[in-house]
Amino acid sequence: MNKIELLNQQFEGKSPEEVLQYFLTEYKGKIALSSSLSIEDQLLTDLIVKIDASTRIFTLDTGRLFPETYSLIDKTNMKYNIQLEVLFPKHEDVQKMVKEEGINLFYAGIDSRKRCCNVRKMEPLRRAFQGLDVWICGLRREQSVTRKDMQVVEWDEANQLIKLNPLINFTEAQVWDYIKAHKVPYNKLHDQGFPSIGCQPCTRAVQPGEDIRAGRWWWEDPEHKECGLHRK
Ligand code: ADX
Ligand code: SF4
Repeated sequence: MNKIELLNQQFEGKSPEEVLQYFLTEYKGKIALSSSLSIEDQLLTDLIVKIDASTRIFTLDTGRLFPETYSLIDKTNMKYNIQLEVLFPKHEDVQKMVKEEGINLFYAGIDSRKRCCNVRKMEPLRRAFQGLDVWICGLRREQSVTRKDMQVVEWDEANQLIKLNPLINFTEAQVWDYIKAHKVPYNKLHDQGFPSIGCQPCTRAVQPGEDIRAGRWWWEDPEHKECGLHRK
């Protein structure tokens, strides 16, 4: 059994607190939460700050986020007395891309959309990984077909890092219960029909009963709806 399989066996049935307690101690200084300010990431932020407030928490500002998301960055910093690390794309790459394919290139086709995600998210993410052994994410299995086989502990081959998904078995209702019980700040768009929030041009509200990710890149097939951050 390899190291990752052993860790998954060790943490089978364990709570997110227990998982985080272990990893934040074992990998102190080499572990960070990648936060999109989603309800999952806000829950993780709350837990992480309570365990070790010095843990790095970063967010990728693509330049195309909702105003509500920017407000939440400030609110979160104030509530927890922390400073989220905000990472930006390289301006040369953004300028070249926009010059070649236009400001709203993502609607032109999957290749253009992936280029935009690459420039605005993947490249800054790779920079954020410098010096890290573990990145923590808010993924949940029930979020989409592309996430149904994911484990609490994964080996991210492309980035040569451990990827930790403490909430992988959580349901959306469990996340909301925690958010409400602990008064965790959340994005106001969630009260307006947006269950999953990414960049503004690539996210829209969903109808009651629709899939939670139906409003993300709604013009693409469900199998393609990953920006590259979580490709297996
Ligand atoms: S996405 O790939 O479709 O955009 P999703 O919004 O479900 O991802 O978020 C899943 C996880 O990816 C989040 O919990 C977070 O760890 C990471 N993530 C997504 N977007 C960002 C972002 N802008 N900044 C930092 N981390 C992000
Ligand atoms: Fe660009 Fe949309 Fe990807 Fe954001 S989600 S980086 S706007 S393609």
